[in-house]
Amino acid sequence: MSERLALLGGKPVRTKPFPSHPVIGDAEKKAVLDVLDSGRLSTFIAVPGEYFNGGRKIREFEKQFAEYHGVGHAVTFNSATAALHAAVVAVGVPAGAEVIVPPYTFTSTATCALMHNAIPVFADVDEDVFGLNPVAVERAVTPLTRAIIVVHLFGHPANLNGILDVARRHNLRVIEDCAQAPGAKYEDRLVGTFGDCGIFSFTESKTITTGEGGMLITNSEEIAAMARMVRNHGEMIVEGQKERTYSSSMLGWNYRMTEMEAALGIVQFGKLEQLNQHRIDLANYLSAQLSGLEGLQTPTVRPRATHVYYVYPLTYDEKSMEIPRDLFVKALNAEGIPFGAGYMRPLYLSPLYQERRHFGYEHYAGYASYEAGLCPVAERLHERELILTGVVRFPATYDDMDDIADAIQKVMEHKEELCRTACA
Ligand SMILES: Cc1ncc(COP(=O)(O)O)c(C=O)c1O
Repeated sequence: MSERLALLGGKPVRTKPFPSHPVIGDAEKKAVLDVLDSGRLSTFIAVPGEYFNGGRKIREFEKQFAEYHGVGHAVTFNSATAALHAAVVAVGVPAGAEVIVPPYTFTSTATCALMHNAIPVFADVDEDVFGLNPVAVERAVTPLTRAIIVVHLFGHPANLNGILDVARRHNLRVIEDCAQAPGAKYEDRLVGTFGDCGIFSFTESKTITTGEGGMLITNSEEIAAMARMVRNHGEMIVEGQKERTYSSSMLGWNYRMTEMEAALGIVQFGKLEQLNQHRIDLANYLSAQLSGLEGLQTPTVRPRATHVYYVYPLTYDEKSMEIPRDLFVKALNAEGIPFGAGYMRPLYLSPLYQERRHFGYEHYAGYASYEAGLCPVAERLHERELILTGVVRFPATYDDMDDIADAIQKVMEHKEELCRTACA
C-alpha cells in the first residue's frame, strides 16, 4: 500500500459513510402503525386496576423478554436510566448508602445511585474486558455499601463469578447493567440473570431499539413489584382492592413505555440473535485481519463468554506503535474510518463528583473519594490505550471491515512519516 496518508494530503481509503443504524423494516413500521390505528397509545393508568401495569403490547414485550431470559419477571421502562433508578430503589438501597460502580461506563450507571440519594463509589476495571475488577470491588466495600452495579461493557460480560463472590460475602445486592450486552453469555448463561436484577437499554444506538426504552429483569417478585411502582407514580396495588383512586404509597415517577415503543420492541427483539450474530461474524473477521499487528490488541473473549460487540475495542500500545494514540486515531479518521480515542472519561473526574454537586453529599456520612488516580486502569485505558469503533454491526459487510483493516494497515505502514510531520 503506497498511497500517501489522507491526513498528509493523500487519498482516503474510504469516502462513503458506513451504513446507518438502526435498520427499521416493514415489520417494525406495521407494528407501530397498528398501534396508532388502534388508538391505544399508552394504556397505563396510575391507579390500582387492570392497566396499572400497561397495555397489551407492553405485557407481550415483557413476557417474551422474561421467557427468553428464563426469569420470572420483566418490567419495561422508558429508558435504561429509569430502569437503573428503579433497580436501586427496588433492591433496597437506602439514602446515604454506598453503591459500588465502575468509572468506565455511561453516566447513568452511577447517577442512578445519586437519583436515590445514595453515593456512587468507584472501583477499577479489568484491563482485558473492561468490567469491574473483583479485587478492586472488595477494596471499595465499607460498612455503608449496599449494592454493586456491574456493567458488561462494550458487549463482553464482566467477571461475574468474582463480583458475585464479593457480594455474597458482604451481603450486597447486585444489579447488572446489560445496556450494551443484550444476548451476551457468561459461562453459557445470559447476562442479566446472575444478579438480583438486570437492566437493558433500547435507545437508538443500542443493538435493538424502541427509540428510547429500557427493561428490568428479575426472578424476585418483590423487586419486580417495587420496580413497577417506581415506574408508575408509586402506586401500590393491594390484592383485591376495589377502589380506583390515587394513593401514593411511595415515591414514584412516570417511567412508562408507550404501546408504540413496545410494539417496535417486540419486532426488534425478534431479531436480537440475528443482529448479535452479524456483529460477532464481522468482529471475528476483522480480528482475524488485525491479528498479529504489533501494538494493537484485538478484543479479548474469555472462555465460555460471548462478546456481542456493542462496540469493537482495540487496545493500543503506544510504545510499540511509536506514535501517540490520538494521532493514530486522527489519521484513521482522515482515512474515512470512524474510530474514537477512549470511551467516557472516568466518571469520577467530572464536576458532578469533583465538586460533589448533588445535594445528597451534604448528608453523606462516608468518605467516598474521587481523586485523580483512583482507578489507574480505567484512566490509562481512557487516556492512552483504548480505541473504539461502533460500525461493526448490521448492515455493514465484510467489505466494510476490509476498509477498516486496510486503513489501519495503511496508517501503520506510514507511521514514521506521520510522526515526522505531525509529532513535532
Ligand atoms: C452501560 C450503559 N448504561 C446505561 C445506559 C443508559 O441507557 P438509556 O439511554 O436507555 O437510559 C447506557 C446507554 O445509553 C449504557 O451504555
